[in-house]
Amino acid sequence: MPQDEATSTTVQTDQTADDNADGTSQKPGASRRVATSDDLEVSAYLEIAKEKRGVQPLPPFARRVQRESVVIIDFGSQYSRLIARRVRESKVFCEIITHDTSWEKVAPLEPKGVILSGGPASVYEGGAPLAPAWVYDKGLPVLGICYGMQAMTHQLGGKVSPSSKREYGHAVLHQNNDSDPLFQNLPPQMPVWMSHGDHITEPPPGFKSLAYTDNSPVAVLGDGKRMYGIQFHPEVVHTPNGRALIENFLYKVCRCEGLWTPTNFVEEAITDIKAKVGGGRVICALSGGVDSAVAAALIHRAIGDQLTCIFVNNGLMRREEPERVVRTFQRHMKINLIHRDATQRFLAALKGVTDPEQKRRAIGEEFIHVFDEEAGKVGKVDFLAQGTLYPDVIESKTEETKVSAKIKTHHNVGGLPAHMKLRLVEPLRYLFKDEVREVGLALGLPEEMVFRQPFPGPGLAIRVLGEVTHEKLETLRSADWVVMDEIKANNLYRSLWQSFAVLTDTRTVGVTGDFRTYGHVVAIRAVTSEDAMTADWARLPYDVLSRISNRIVNEVPGVNRVVLDITSKPPGTIEWE
Ligand code: XMP
Repeated sequence: MPQDEATSTTVQTDQTADDNADGTSQKPGASRRVATSDDLEVSAYLEIAKEKRGVQPLPPFARRVQRESVVIIDFGSQYSRLIARRVRESKVFCEIITHDTSWEKVAPLEPKGVILSGGPASVYEGGAPLAPAWVYDKGLPVLGICYGMQAMTHQLGGKVSPSSKREYGHAVLHQNNDSDPLFQNLPPQMPVWMSHGDHITEPPPGFKSLAYTDNSPVAVLGDGKRMYGIQFHPEVVHTPNGRALIENFLYKVCRCEGLWTPTNFVEEAITDIKAKVGGGRVICALSGGVDSAVAAALIHRAIGDQLTCIFVNNGLMRREEPERVVRTFQRHMKINLIHRDATQRFLAALKGVTDPEQKRRAIGEEFIHVFDEEAGKVGKVDFLAQGTLYPDVIESKTEETKVSAKIKTHHNVGGLPAHMKLRLVEPLRYLFKDEVREVGLALGLPEEMVFRQPFPGPGLAIRVLGEVTHEKLETLRSADWVVMDEIKANNLYRSLWQSFAVLTDTRTVGVTGDFRTYGHVVAIRAVTSEDAMTADWARLPYDVLSRISNRIVNEVPGVNRVVLDITSKPPGTIEWE
């Protein structure tokens, strides 16, 4: 155990900056929402707790030796991640790095090629980001996309000029040279998607124009060996042959073999975990979500009984979910699992609480207390496993988007106790969410868990409006069960970002048989979204809505009215609290 971890007592300063005396943050207008999953929420509770003890997360993994990789230099394009996704989909591992990353940092990845992303700058403006010299000096294949092409042209002695007209949208690309490996098996003319103001007026010495469009005489350029620039965006769906072009670069130019597969990942991750953990003991908090489930399954494959999972049932999950967690991990996977049913503790902590933020705080605090109690029973523990994913890793580089920082604004989580001096194991930190799902399937996790829609850490507590009680939770669980059942039966589950029921605090008059009723109103919320930052209400088929409504008023005692939420985000939010 490194000395600094064991003895440090410094408390991170950002913890106190915005906090009031009672430890809560009440900055007016501060975002109270977290665009994240319950898995991240749980990780964040633990992270905050560690920071309160002054335990700084260590750099996670000793750098893995990838079998093959490509690096993407990010010049700030909104599409950089999409490029990474396309490369990964082509079975080549890649990492996104900043434009000032040194060769010393990159060398351990042994990249077989470099992609320069697009970006909003103009190369002839002062301070425009450029590629580091190693990109051109190391003899690596390079693909510059849009701004990346302009940066490359500028740096290698060509000429970039502003256009009188911005080229935006569809264009037709005509090849000058169809024998180039970049164009292998691509049609001589193909639709591409453009978005640029500047354009190349003179290729660098040794480079030739390989293709043109009506507005760009040099829409693709190359040195005939290993360096290419393309003005359009191959990563977007509006360039139908874009993926094939990226694959040509990866396979024909960089000579990659396509080794990034779930099976290879699992093998490599197992080797890494074994090397890192040695004979140590690992604990992992399960939330019921896919990330912690996959992390736990992977670590269990690597080190078996050295792993103990802790599942704190907060009593705020959906019907059958806690049972599924226990069944999957304990019975099927034979993982050491501590299942603590803390329903009563959480309910007690929520008693009388109606404010949504106060609910979140109470739940976060209670989680840490219960987790600590259970972890204390495991004995000496060396590592904490977390299901951190690649997008979190990229985002955490900018402090204001750091998930834990956002959660800090509304959670008053206590510090982890002194006996917990843990290092992190984060085997998924190189994966995108869809890759995590593939790995989960490869590890034999059930589809219900692998494809579960995002579910908030505070669970049903923020879907029971007003005070949370056992009865209200049961009512909501029954209504939610109907929504889920119908959504799944009609094959809508995977096309929706989230779909659920909300138990409002409104009661309305109804009539059942000859009797007047005065019952609860349930709202149906179903949204489509890419990332939860924006969302639209889903246009569910009327017959599905009709069945949901009928079943809820018939099957759920105390509910006599069902309404549909037709609000987009913004201005609404996905959750009601
Ligand atoms: P909103 O309601 O802000 O939600 O549009 C965006 C996404 O975040 C989830 N959400 C939470 N997740 N803790 C979480 O772990 C929270 O306190 C929380 N609040 C909202 C929500 O389900 C949606 O996916």
